[in-house]
Amino acid sequence: MIPLLSARDLVKEFAVAGTQGLFTPAKRFTAVDRVSFDLHAGETLALVGESGSGKSTAARLAARLIDVTSGTVYLDGEDITARHGSALRDVRRQIQVVFQDPFSSLNPRHTVERIVTAPLRYQKRDLPGGTRKVAQQLLERVGLDPAHVDRYPAQFSGGQAQRIGIARALAVGPRVLVCDEAVSALDVSVQAQIINLLRELQREEGFGCLFIAHDLAVVRQIATSVAVMTDGTIVETGDRDSVFGEPRHEYTKRLLAAVPRINPEWEAARLRNAAARAEEAVR
Ligand SMILES: Nc1ncnc2c1ncn2[C@@H]1O[C@H](COP(=O)(O)OP(=O)(O)O)[C@@H](O)[C@H]1O
Ligand SMILES: [Mg+2]
Repeated sequence: MIPLLSARDLVKEFAVAGTQGLFTPAKRFTAVDRVSFDLHAGETLALVGESGSGKSTAARLAARLIDVTSGTVYLDGEDITARHGSALRDVRRQIQVVFQDPFSSLNPRHTVERIVTAPLRYQKRDLPGGTRKVAQQLLERVGLDPAHVDRYPAQFSGGQAQRIGIARALAVGPRVLVCDEAVSALDVSVQAQIINLLRELQREEGFGCLFIAHDLAVVRQIATSVAVMTDGTIVETGDRDSVFGEPRHEYTKRLLAAVPRINPEWEAARLRNAAARAEEAVR
């Protein structure tokens, strides 16, 4: 089966600032070094690793937000690595991103209506019922009050703001959703709510999810498979239970051992309970 999104030997080098002289070539730093992975529809692939290991850069390369130094990105088996202009806009319709900090990724001067429908305008979509109706429907789908379309981001809590970010990503009906530390800045109970929402939406929509996180307890909740990154490379890939249950690579073992929560089963139960409590609270 052809994967939905495929990364092959992705490399990203950055020029290191401050070292360029007139005659000295710029020093280069390899943030992502020959990273390969496959993402299938309906699957959630988690990229895990410590801060600075290259997760965000790898995800941005795969989403075509930044250009590769070398390597290839395939969407449905089609090479999209060099796409630009209207062909890249087509990729944007298929791959959408939810970022870590909802407040810095939502324009504070725009209403929610304008924010969640922005990708539709970018795609030049016809909105027969008007943007208001579409925005209301999107808010409903992420569990927000559709009457709040005229509000501004600052009038929402962190969890609600992240729901707005998710609504915006879903507006164009993407087939790949990239979540870059999308729940990392949220309280545990709110994290659990957002994870439940993502799982529910994935069940309904069937998108493939590339889920970046450094928190293994979160990854355990949502991932179907896991790729472990360190120093710009993937050192271990496998389905969730085998990576958590029988880690093969030393780095994965250390990463698992470093989780301050002692028992992952307890942690999973704790998150489930928190989700149940949070859901009760909004009823
Ligand atoms: N635009 C950039 N210019 C220079 N270095 C960068 C840039 N983006 C990321 N890096 C560096 O690449 C490495 C990986 O960063 P990143 O992908 O953000 O890691 P992670 O998401 O795992 O924390 C880090 O050392 C970071 O400082
Ligand atoms: Mg990151």
